[in-house]
Amino acid sequence: MHLHKYERIWLLFGTGSLVVFLLIIGFGAFYKGAQPPSEKITIDPQNVEAQESFKKENLGLTKVEDGKYIVNVVASAFNYDLGKDEEGSNVKKIRIPKGSTVLFQVTSTDVVHGFELAGTNVNMMVEPGYISSYETELNETGEYTLVCNEYCGTGHHLMFAEVEVYE
Ligand code: CUA
Repeated sequence: MHLHKYERIWLLFGTGSLVVFLLIIGFGAFYKGAQPPSEKITIDPQNVEAQESFKKENLGLTKVEDGKYIVNVVASAFNYDLGKDEEGSNVKKIRIPKGSTVLFQVTSTDVVHGFELAGTNVNMMVEPGYISSYETELNETGEYTLVCNEYCGTGHHLMFAEVEVYE
């Protein structure tokens, strides 16, 4: 088969560009590994309680000082574990005074979940093996829904909780 000189040049140029682009994409996608963008702290998903923050008694809302709170959450299909209340029932709603700085620390024991506090700037991906954390200030009163925005299985739509910011 006879190839015209220009045809050969363009073929080489095309193939060369393709190789360069694939290298750039491959490098860009994988050189930092696959992990949640917010944090690089690792944890054993089979034993999250080994980490102080995720011990049963430390789950849910903890007051650090006036206007400063920590919320520790263990996500699993299909629930956010926010600890237990005084009666021993699972906490489904937490209440935080307006203007507080809140540090959310979340991990998963099974699959990838989402952690979005709808209407705020809290929106994280939660991956087993990692701790996702984000600190924010809650300055608007209201009822916020905490939702899982990563499809995680048949009960995905049942995975939510409530956060109330009060005056
Ligand atoms: Cu958890 Cu969707």
